[in-house]
Amino acid sequence: MLRPMTPWWKSAVLYQIYPRSFADTDGDGIGDLEGVRRHLDHVAALGADGIWLSPFYRSPMADFGYDVSDHCAVDPVFGDLDDVDRLIADAHGRGLKVVVDWVPNHSSEQHPWFLASRSARDDPRRDWYIWRDPAPDGGPPNNWIRAWSDQPAWTWDEVTEQYYLHCFLPQQPDLNWADPDLRSAMHDTLRFWLDRDVDGFRMDVVHLIGKDPALPDDPVDLAGLSHVPLNHREETHTYLREIRAILDSYPGDRMAVGEVYLLDTADVATYYGDGDELHLNFNFPPLHAPWDAHRWRRQIERAERELTPIGAWPTWVLSNHDNPRHRTRYGASMSRARAAAVLLLTLRGTPFLYAGEELGLEDADIPPDRVVDPGGRDGCRAPLPWDPTPTHGWTGTDPWLPWPPDADTLDVETQRGDARSVLALYERTLVARRRSPALHAGDLELADPIDGVVSFTRRCGDDVRHVLVNYTDESVHVGPVPGSFAGRLVVEVSTHPDHEGAPFSGTLDADEALIVAPGPD
Ligand code: NOJ
Ligand code: MG
Repeated sequence: MLRPMTPWWKSAVLYQIYPRSFADTDGDGIGDLEGVRRHLDHVAALGADGIWLSPFYRSPMADFGYDVSDHCAVDPVFGDLDDVDRLIADAHGRGLKVVVDWVPNHSSEQHPWFLASRSARDDPRRDWYIWRDPAPDGGPPNNWIRAWSDQPAWTWDEVTEQYYLHCFLPQQPDLNWADPDLRSAMHDTLRFWLDRDVDGFRMDVVHLIGKDPALPDDPVDLAGLSHVPLNHREETHTYLREIRAILDSYPGDRMAVGEVYLLDTADVATYYGDGDELHLNFNFPPLHAPWDAHRWRRQIERAERELTPIGAWPTWVLSNHDNPRHRTRYGASMSRARAAAVLLLTLRGTPFLYAGEELGLEDADIPPDRVVDPGGRDGCRAPLPWDPTPTHGWTGTDPWLPWPPDADTLDVETQRGDARSVLALYERTLVARRRSPALHAGDLELADPIDGVVSFTRRCGDDVRHVLVNYTDESVHVGPVPGSFAGRLVVEVSTHPDHEGAPFSGTLDADEALIVAPGPD
C-alpha cells in the first residue's frame, strides 16, 4: 500500500481526554462523549492535531473504564455508539485525528468471556484467562504482586478451585494471549473500531500481554514491586507484529502507541520492533525525572541514543491520568509549568498533552471521603473548568471529583481572554511548532551543558530553531547560541511574552524557556 512519506503521527500533537473529567452534558456530574464533542473547538483552537480518548467502553468502573466488560459497546454513563460516531465525524470534520484506548492485557471480571471462563474448568473459554493450581503450600502459584498494593496478583476461585492471575485489581483478570482464540477475539475488537474510522489506538500496558508460560517468581530483591514494570517478554513482540499487520491492512495511517511501562528507555525501544510493531511508545522515565536540567539533559540524550539509530520516533509526556500533574510535581509553580510546556512541545518526537495541562491545572485536593480510585490517582482526574461561574460550564450537579485549585481563574474562558495566560503560551508555541519543519520534523542536537539550562537545536534542511530552558529560579547568562546563524536571532516564543519579537539577549530570566529563530537579515 502506498503511504505518504511522513505519517501524520510524527508531526502530530495529541491531546489526551479522560472522558469522565472533561465535560458533562447530561447532568450526572460525570463527563460524557457529547461533552467531548461540544468542546472539540477548544482542542482545535489549542492547535492539537488529534485526541486520545481514555476508555469509554462498557465497564463496572472498578478501574474507571480500564476494566472493560464489552469492548464494542459504550458505557451508558458516557453515551452510546451513535455518540462515538458523531464525535469521530465531527473531529474528522475539524481535521482532528481520533485515537481510542484499547485494553488488551485484562478485561473486567464481568466480561462474558470471564464469566464463561470461571464457570467450569472445561469451559471452551477457560484458557482465555490465566488459571493455575495453588503452590504446594496452598498459596498463590508465584510471588507476583498486583499493582497499587503489596498483595498477590492472584485470586482464589471457590467454584473451580484454581487461582486466576490479575496484575491489577482482582476485578481485572489477565487475558491469556497464548491462546489463539483469545488473540483472534481481541483482533476483532480492533477491527470493530478501525471499521468505525478511528485513526489509532493507545494500547494499555501492552508490554504485559506476553507472559513467560512457566510464570516464574519475580526476583526477591524486587520484593514489594508490582509485576507490571517487570514483565518484558519475547512473546509480546510476536503478538504485536500480528496486531500491526491488522492496522496496516486498513487504508490511512492507523497508528498504535504503546503504554510500555518499563523503567528503562532501552527496553521501551524494543517495542518499535523493526518498524513492524508499535509506531510509537510512551517513554515514562522523563515523566518521573525531577525538574532538573542535568537530569533532563540525560533523558533527552538517552531517548536520542536509544531511538535515533533504530529509526524510532520518540514520544514525550509530562502528565496523564495516572500521575500527579507536572505543575503539581514541579512544585506548583506556574512559571515552571510554563517552561515545561515550551520544552515538551519542542523536543524531537510526538508530544502528548493531558487535558488541563494547557490551563496549568494543579491536582485537586481530595478529602478522604471523596477518594474513589483504588490507585490513588483522583487528584489528577479533577474536572476541567470551562468558565469562571460556580459550575464551571458543567451541568450544575456536583462533578464526581472536586474542582482543582483556582478553577475560577484558570478556566478556559478566562484564559482565552488573556494573552499572558498559560493557555495562550501553549497556543503560541503550537503555532510556532506547526510553522517550523525544524520543530515538528527536524533532528535534535543538544548544546554543550550549561548549569541549570537545557539547550538544543532543531534543524530540518534550512529551517533551524534553538530552544533554551532555564530550570532555575535565577537568571542565567548563556551567551551566544552555539553554531549561530549569520543573521540576527529573534525570540519567537517565550514564557515571558514581553521578550517575544525582540533580539535574543544571551540571558534567560528565571524559569524562562524560549524558542529562538533566525531573524530577517
Ligand atoms: C494503565 C492505565 O493508564 C491505568 O489508568 C490503568 O489503571 C492500568 N493501565 C490498568 O488498565
Ligand atoms: Mg454526564
